[in-house]
Formats: sequence, C-alpha cells, structure tokens
Amino acid sequence: MGIYAVTGSASGMGAATVARLRAQGHTVIGVDIMDAEVVADLATPAGRRTAAEQVLERCQGVLDGAVMAAGVGPAPGPDRARLILHVNFVGTVELLEAWRPALAAGDRAKVVVFSSNSTTTMPLLSARAIRALLEGETDLALAKVRRLRSMAPAVAYGVSKVALSRWVRRHAVTAEWAGTGIRLNALAPGAIRTPLLEEQLATPGLAKRIRGFPVPLGGFGEPEQLAAWAVFMLSESADFLCGSVLFVDGGTDAWLRADDWPRPVPARHLRRYLARMRAFHRP
Ligand code: NAI
Repeated sequence: MGIYAVTGSASGMGAATVARLRAQGHTVIGVDIMDAEVVADLATPAGRRTAAEQVLERCQGVLDGAVMAAGVGPAPGPDRARLILHVNFVGTVELLEAWRPALAAGDRAKVVVFSSNSTTTMPLLSARAIRALLEGETDLALAKVRRLRSMAPAVAYGVSKVALSRWVRRHAVTAEWAGTGIRLNALAPGAIRTPLLEEQLATPGLAKRIRGFPVPLGGFGEPEQLAAWAVFMLSESADFLCGSVLFVDGGTDAWLRADDWPRPVPARHLRRYLARMRAFHRP
C-alpha cells in the first residue's frame, strides 16, 4: 500500500480521489484550506510552506505519489484573477518542487496534476501571461490578465492551466523527474459537476456560456469518473506514462480542435527538432 498527498482533498474531484485511494487501503495526506489532515492556504507563501513541510513530516520523506487537485474556478470577483494564478499555478508548482525528493525516494512514484480542457478550448489566452507565469513572474502575469477587466478571471484560469500543463511537460522528461523514476502527468477534465462548476453555474453570464459549450457525449462529467482516471494514473498500469496531458471531457476538445493535434513536426522547426534529438542522453 502506498502513501499519497492529495491537494484539494476536501471537495469535488480531490475528495473523490481520496475516497478511492482510501478504499484501496492507501494512506492519504489531504491538503486543503479546510477539512484536511494538513490545513493550509495555498494562495499564500506561508500556507504553501506549511503544506510542503507538514506533508514531508507526515510521510517521513517518502511519497508514492501526489494528486494536485486544489484549484479556484473562474467566477467573477475583484481578487479572483490573483487567487487563480496563486492557487492553481504557484500552489501546485511550489509544492511539487518541495515534494520532489520525497517522490524520488518512493518506488516509481506518480504525480497527477489537474489541468483543464480550457487549455485548448478557451480563446484569447495571453501568451505573455503564460510565459510570465512559467518564468516565475506572477505579478507580471497578473498585470497582463487584469488588462482584460471583466474577462480577467476566465483568462487567468485558462492561463494558469496552460502554464501548468507546459510546466508538467517540460519537467516530466528531465533528469530530476523521469530520471529519478517519477512519472509526472496531467489530467484535463471538461465540465465536471463539482462545487467549482456549481459556482460558475450560479453566475448568470457564465452559466449560459457553460451550458452552451459543445459536449458530444452530453451533460457534465461526475467527480468519480475523473477520480477513477487519477487513481489509474497512480497505478502500476501507468508506469510508462510520462509528460502526457490526458483529456477526459466528453469530446469537447475533439469537437472544437479535431485537426489541431496530433501535429507533425513543421518543416520550419526541423533544426530545433534535430538539436533536441541530439541533446538526448539515454538513461
Ligand atoms: P472543488 O471546488 O470541488 O475542489 C477544489 C478544492 O480546492 C476545494 O476543496 C478547495 O477548498 C481547494 N482550494 C481552493 N482554494 C484553496 C486554497 N487557497 N488553499 C488550499 N486549498 C484550496 O473543485 P473541482 O472541480 O473538484 O476541481 C479540482 C481541480 O480540477 C481544480 O484544479 C480545477 O481547476 C480542475 N478542473 C475542474 C473542472 C470542473 O468542471 N469542475 C474542469 C477542469 C478542471
């Protein structure tokens, strides 16, 4: 049986993942702003430090995996964009960096980061804000998304999840992660019936957009469906999964972007591609 850290453990898909792991006999250290083994506010540096340290103390420096589900949705509000960038992106990345040695000490540890299909289906996401987040310039990213005024929370949400997915893909394949046996991947849900979605459905302008979104399978997903994927991605069956972003969204991404992916290597990127090929050192 393994020991797992789960952020966002008090609600929605995080809670459903915790229930599934515990039912299989695993030990779970939940991290949340309330109702968790480790109570911490991931929007603040002090809260992130507390979460990082207390989990390491409780697991005694060895983790078999982590599920990063804590997140804030794109409901309106003056402080919402800041909260979204800090919880969704910084809160995930800082904890994973702090827990990496404990994951490396585990046996083929697995990490599941909750991304979103907003990464590929939400238009007008600021490329500069995404770059700023990845470069650790959170205030600059916030300034870029705040220019969009009433759209700022929605754009901040998409930006936080694109940056997170890229962070996963960039780091998953490195010596520090794949090289130490850690399998780092992302799960990208569509609209799932959780308190986060209910909050958006209770916001008139947003509700109309969400209900009008194309979902070929119809309706919303259930938290347990995504928890099943998260637990599968923590299992031995996922030993060969590395740097993947798995979409579980009822078909929305495929409906809107069918031909955009997979994309062959463009001829103009051939030099960069070959340089990358040569830079690889077989483990
Ligand atoms: P939820 O609202 O049910 O759960 C999110 C959890 O994060 C809550 O327990 C909340 O207390 C915790 N959290 C929020 N702010 C925090 C903070 N400052 N410090 C510590 N914990 C904090 O949401 P849901 O839907 O289960 O979301 C899980 C993940 O999936 C999130 O990252 C979300 O962005 C993502 N997602 C959700 C979708 C949906 O339709 N529900 C769609 C795509 C992605």
